[in-house]
Amino acid sequence: MEKSRREFLRDIAFYSSATYLATLGIQSFSTREAQASSTGKIDIGECKSVKIKAVSELGWWDNKTLIHDIMDHGGIHKSQWEIPWTPKNAAGSCSLIEVTALDGKKTRILIDTGWNLDWMRKRFKEEGIDRMLREHKIDYLYITHEHLDHYWGLEATLENDPTINMLIPSTFYPEGLHFLQGAQYLLPHAKNLIPYKGKLAQMKPGKIHKLAPGVASVTFDFPIIVRIKGEQSLFFNVKDKGIVIVTGCCHRGILNLAEFASKTFKNGDTLYGIYGGLHIDPFEKWTPKAQKVVKDLGKYNFKKIAANHCTGHKAIHQMIALGYPVVRGSGKHGSKSKEYVGNGDTVVF
Ligand SMILES: [Fe+2]
Ligand SMILES: [Fe+2]
Repeated sequence: MEKSRREFLRDIAFYSSATYLATLGIQSFSTREAQASSTGKIDIGECKSVKIKAVSELGWWDNKTLIHDIMDHGGIHKSQWEIPWTPKNAAGSCSLIEVTALDGKKTRILIDTGWNLDWMRKRFKEEGIDRMLREHKIDYLYITHEHLDHYWGLEATLENDPTINMLIPSTFYPEGLHFLQGAQYLLPHAKNLIPYKGKLAQMKPGKIHKLAPGVASVTFDFPIIVRIKGEQSLFFNVKDKGIVIVTGCCHRGILNLAEFASKTFKNGDTLYGIYGGLHIDPFEKWTPKAQKVVKDLGKYNFKKIAANHCTGHKAIHQMIALGYPVVRGSGKHGSKSKEYVGNGDTVVF
């Protein structure tokens, strides 16, 4: 029997306790525990390598249409669930991570699930993600944040595996939680008709969640445009290489994440790689602030930068001009450039 909405929301409250998370193989540390350790840093262990495929890095097709949708319907503080988004502009962000442990064991994490259901179904089929989901070969669906281009394609994942372990920030709004239960919002054109039946983990800010040796998730609580709250990112400690940061949109700011990683994790003095949207200049405005972020990123001396999604083309051009180690792509499957890791491209850290 399906759960009532009240039962569902009541149960949600229990999905963030350390005891419950342990049933999904997740270990929790507080940042205070780290400070109490001899080095002042948290040891999350090590992994051998991290392979990431961009299933779809395009959040939407056209910036102007997206900006009009927002500004014509109340602006950046309006809830995303109350904006009549242009359906044909939707695409979505989603990547597949395969972590290899030192003993060879693989952990697969689908990071985000896109937006447009038809587009996500097409990309899942082209990359074999649908089959992997049906065969339960993906361990976690990890939602970085509640934004439409990362979360509203949920049905495309759940129709293949409605029981996949799912990790979301504990800061979701009720609409986002209700969406999990199976819901259709007519005005914003958001639909998930497959009720989620798996183990849900709500990841609380202020904790370090260890998912596997060398793999940690951290959730940050702060307001983000079109009224969402909170975002989480993944941190990997790759043996003999260093820390790799994986983001969805990086609304928190890549400099903040780099600083956080260097201060928090053992091995944090060696930052090796970045993957994902860096939200430096998503709408191609190229402000002095964006230019400064790109310049300051150089201080961290990353060895591989696989930036895509909302980073901004001008920001990536500038990274290349400054000689940063930007990982290039093939420009296939609807990607707009070969200058960065696009749809169907893979990067290994
Ligand atoms: Fe995004
Ligand atoms: Fe976002």
